[in-house]
Amino acid sequence: MSDKKDLLVERLRADRDLSDDQFKMLLAADEHDAALCEAADEVRRSIYGDKVYVRGLIEFTNYCKNNCYYCGIRAGNTHAERYRLSKEEILSCCDEGYGLGFRTFVLQGGEDPYFTDERICEIVSEIHARYPDCVITLSIGEKSRESYQAYYDAGAGRFLLRHETADSEHYRKLHPAEMSLANRKRCLYDLKDIGYQVGAGIMVGSPYQTLDNIITDLRFLQNLKPDMIGIGPFIHHDQTPFADQPDGSYELTLRLLSVLRLMFPYVLLPSTTALGTIRPEGREMGLKAGANVVMPNLSPVSVREKYELYENKICTGEEAAQCRGCLEMRVKSAGYRIVTDVGNVAAH
Ligand code: SAM
Ligand code: FES
Repeated sequence: MSDKKDLLVERLRADRDLSDDQFKMLLAADEHDAALCEAADEVRRSIYGDKVYVRGLIEFTNYCKNNCYYCGIRAGNTHAERYRLSKEEILSCCDEGYGLGFRTFVLQGGEDPYFTDERICEIVSEIHARYPDCVITLSIGEKSRESYQAYYDAGAGRFLLRHETADSEHYRKLHPAEMSLANRKRCLYDLKDIGYQVGAGIMVGSPYQTLDNIITDLRFLQNLKPDMIGIGPFIHHDQTPFADQPDGSYELTLRLLSVLRLMFPYVLLPSTTALGTIRPEGREMGLKAGANVVMPNLSPVSVREKYELYENKICTGEEAAQCRGCLEMRVKSAGYRIVTDVGNVAAH
């Protein structure tokens, strides 16, 4: 880097905050990118060193009762080939994952009414009993506080629920009328209150998103103080109302990852599959921009293509072990190292 420090980036690093106008200046152009990326990497290394945490992702159902306009597995997509994994299949994904060094399992799915609280609790408690040294993460959408409490009591420790956008008008443009930002937020605060490590987040470049929306997201995250923040570019899917919408920007996603690392130095920040889908080297660049988590796919290969949230999703052909090996290499090539660890958020 040149000797001349980027004042805006240094202010963000020092204060973990900027004014709305200053955030806009950082996000609107590429002139701060090099300094942002370097500062974000320094901060991540000061807390997490070169460690990258892995999460074994199990996409256990693509049935969904919701109709989010952006999502390839929305209920209204009659072309989607639906599947759900049995408890035994989920457990065998965990068996395989454990052998590969995963100590966190992420169970993700659509909002599938088949998976009642009783069924979810049964699955969670069985995984918990078999692997007491692992953390179970759920990503199964909006539920009542009582349901979240029941999953927590059964042994789940983390929950991923992207807020998608913190602007209610923008939320309306992405979701049908029966869904609301107020309920999404209620879920996140309930989850936190119960004691989960909570992940929120957005799609970068979702249809109709403005820079002001993104700043509202940053303000919301400052209030929520999540342990994890998941961001990835929006990618269109042919069988959705957003089929003709442009994909999100790769550059803006990287920029935002760096901004998030500087705002929330401790946060667990995945370099997402969507980032690797819009650019072959996307996940490596995401790590260099401040991300410290990767989520290889542990789902059986036979169902991978069916969990198609967006087009050309990567990693649908490889076995879990191949996926793990491929990521290990990619992480190494970016200058970091995968560790076998539950990967809790650093003290802050
Ligand atoms: N049903 C759960 C929920 O709503 O949180 C979890 C599954 S949902 C498919 C997981 C995430 O996928 C969403 O939060 C959304 O941000 C992301 N996603 C959905 N469609 C996408 C698209 N077309 N491009 C990029 N990300 C997408
Ligand atoms: Fe339910 Fe996407 S609409 S998971």
